[in-house]
Amino acid sequence: MGEKLLEIKNLTVAYETDLETVHAVNNISFSLEKGSTLGIVGETGAGKTTTALSILRLLPERTAKIRSGAVLFKGEDLLSYTESGMLKVRGAKISMIFQDPMTALNPILTVEDQIGETLRFHNAENKTSAEIAAKVEETLEMVGIPAFRKKDYPHQLSGGMKQRVVIAIALACEPELLIADEPTTALDVTIQAQVLAMIEELKTRLDTSMIMITHDLGVVAQTCDDVCVMYAGEIIEIGSAEDIFTAPAHHPYTVGLFGSLPNLKADTPRLSPISGLMPDPTNLPKGCKFSPRCPRRMDICEEKEPSAFVNGTHTICCHLY
Ligand SMILES: Nc1ncnc2c1ncn2[C@@H]1O[C@H](COP(=O)(O)OP(=O)(O)O)[C@@H](O)[C@H]1O
Ligand code: SF4
Ligand SMILES: [Mg+2]
Repeated sequence: MGEKLLEIKNLTVAYETDLETVHAVNNISFSLEKGSTLGIVGETGAGKTTTALSILRLLPERTAKIRSGAVLFKGEDLLSYTESGMLKVRGAKISMIFQDPMTALNPILTVEDQIGETLRFHNAENKTSAEIAAKVEETLEMVGIPAFRKKDYPHQLSGGMKQRVVIAIALACEPELLIADEPTTALDVTIQAQVLAMIEELKTRLDTSMIMITHDLGVVAQTCDDVCVMYAGEIIEIGSAEDIFTAPAHHPYTVGLFGSLPNLKADTPRLSPISGLMPDPTNLPKGCKFSPRCPRRMDICEEKEPSAFVNGTHTICCHLY
């Protein structure tokens, strides 16, 4: 076992308004070893982004409530940090790449100003302005953008280049943990592969650990050491990438989600695409949350929440096991 960089323990997050409570993340636990990449997969609404925003404490303050849990980063609980303590963590130790580069970039600042701002804010080494300017150029070139483009505003860049700038900002301070939330979803297919390859290369070069949130199984296969599958705010299966792709037994939801993968065992029941919708997060079903859609549902499933079946590094939460 390597050193644990991040450990999420029993995290529960809800969005509360006068009218309703959205149960977005329900008692999830996982950990990330230093230097490794953990994939989080699941349909839209599964709670992936809420999990990521909880780690960085970027949840909307008015409605989001972290009801329980701990987010241990190098053994310290980020949930106990003050906002000024978190400012020193965000961008410098943990960075996030958001799905849509346009929401992450400021339209009225040049590329140079936006990368420079992060560097100046976390200027632990007391770099001079000239050193920061040089670092901006170095960071741009690292993500494959010629340094002379530093005077450009976001609207002057293509979608792929904008996402490269977002990645440059995220990596400028060489964080220990990078959270990539569907980093290629908003890009053209041809650009997706390039950006992914670049993230992988930089991660190795900078020795960054990573959480890769995606619904693209190709991305999981290409980049992840471990994978958790989320459904209705819960982690229903977790394991090494090898467990997830080659183990004989899986959660029926994973089978459905991964149904199109050729290297899952041929005799595994397929349900691709999975019919039905994720349950209403304001009114989650009793028992197994997947039971309304599950082709292997049994009587007990609607009554009792399944407990975790652990087989080495592989855990499945389902009454079948
Ligand atoms: N700011 C918010 N206010 C209320 N509900 C939200 C908010 N953000 C997300 N949700 C709800 O929380 C659930 C989990 O969302 P999210 O974490 O964005 O999932 P994912 O990233 O897996 O698509 C969904 O039901 C979503 O509609
Ligand atoms: S617990 Fe039951 S309903 Fe849930 S996934 Fe397993 S078999 Fe299906
Ligand atoms: Mg999301």
